[in-house]
Amino acid sequence: MIDRYAVVGNPVAHSRSPEIHAAFARATGQELTYEKLLAPLGAFAITMAAFARSGGKGVNVTVPFKVEALGLAHNLTERARLAGAVNTLRRDGDGWSGDNTDGAGLVRDLRVNRDVALTDREVLVLGAGGAVRGILGPLLAESPRTLVVANRTAAKAQALAAQFASHGPIVAIGIDELAVRCFDVVINGTSASLDAVNAVAWPAIAVAAGGIGCDLVYGESSSAFQHWAKARGAARVHDGLGMLIEQAAESFLFWRGVRPETGPLLTLFGASH
Ligand code: ATR
Repeated sequence: MIDRYAVVGNPVAHSRSPEIHAAFARATGQELTYEKLLAPLGAFAITMAAFARSGGKGVNVTVPFKVEALGLAHNLTERARLAGAVNTLRRDGDGWSGDNTDGAGLVRDLRVNRDVALTDREVLVLGAGGAVRGILGPLLAESPRTLVVANRTAAKAQALAAQFASHGPIVAIGIDELAVRCFDVVINGTSASLDAVNAVAWPAIAVAAGGIGCDLVYGESSSAFQHWAKARGAARVHDGLGMLIEQAAESFLFWRGVRPETGPLLTLFGASH
């Protein structure tokens, strides 16, 4: 039986992960299949059990199951434990091992693909939900001067900041309390742009000359954030496609022991500038 992999979420139809992993498999000569797996809400564990019985060896986990995936894993990598969320599961024996490759993917996309230094920079993260959990540890590991987490519900940002306080200079604030202040890197981790009806009131911050605005989501959903970041002064803005490709390469390594080259895909997907 050919090893099966999938991206599991709800919704999942929009995912570009199958294209990415098919390309990685071709490039590394690995024989596997990769599909989209729609799990009904409340039936993540059942869906995963059925997938394992039918040859499932690993999955990428997307919204809204990243915290449930943590509970399903018998073993966790340190970064998944720190994040409190899992975006990659690998079948090991009778159970699942969990990793979180989101933050490593983001940092690699910024540092390697876009030549953005984070060390000693003022970094702002908007949002304090499931997507943000995965990126704070790797961002703090880059030693920013300050990492500000701003959220509509200030208490959620404060809870996250308390959890990561021993890892670096992290500060929490309500998104509406963000005074005019200059940031070098602004990262959108809210799901606000997915929610066009309930449009976010983006804060009146400034982005430093030469600064960058980057989103964790990709495609059309990212356009409102990018538009705003440009208006605030960002020299460059981009969506989360580069991060998606980089986190996928980390997941592929976790499953197969080989890290595929990401350069060709970044170019093919137009995610390299
Ligand atoms: P995800 O897994 O995508 O992070 P989530 O855990 O539901 O989803 O988190 C969504 C994030 O987007 C939260 O930080 C949320 O703010 P609240 O904690 O205040 O709910 C933020 N968010 C969603 N819609 C928003 C909006 N219209 N304006 C501002 N922030 C919004």
